[in-house]
Amino acid sequence: MDGIHLLIEEHKNIIKLTQIIKQECIEILEGKIVDTQRFREFIHFCREYADQHHHGKEEKILFRIMMAELGAAAEKLIRSGMLVEHDLGRYHMNELEKALVEYDREPSSVAKLEVITNASEYASLLKRHIDKEDNVAFAFAGRSLPQELITVVNRETEEFEVSPQAMETKRQFKDWLSKQSL
Ligand SMILES: [Fe+2]
Ligand SMILES: [Fe+2]
Repeated sequence: MDGIHLLIEEHKNIIKLTQIIKQECIEILEGKIVDTQRFREFIHFCREYADQHHHGKEEKILFRIMMAELGAAAEKLIRSGMLVEHDLGRYHMNELEKALVEYDREPSSVAKLEVITNASEYASLLKRHIDKEDNVAFAFAGRSLPQELITVVNRETEEFEVSPQAMETKRQFKDWLSKQSL
């Protein structure tokens, strides 16, 4: 299994998720009511697939090895770039979740604005983040990690992928994506 290639393939799925989230926000701006259950589905997959499943592999495997082996430049790129952005994504999901509770309690324009801004900003953040990973961070790893460490990345990725939790997350997300119209 090619661990870096798998992360790049997962980015394509995450981009689809962000497009679906943006589309829902646009429809609200055009008059659709806020479907809080639908946004809770988004939060579920942002947390389970984009964060635990995908960022989980980045943080526990590839970035861990890059920071240990590729010196100060890799450390700076990952710590002050990639990991900060993972955390910012988690922040937007937490804020979105609070806004949905608020909207269900009292469907005010303020709560609606919080729903749209946090969901939309998450989608924009992940798009920029993925672009940086594909073109900078993963490209750096691909040309700088020696073959024996690429082999470690690949082996650990394979172990992660066959865990019951990873299998279930992939199954659920694939099933959900196949039912979306985008
Ligand atoms: Fe990432
Ligand atoms: Fe990523």
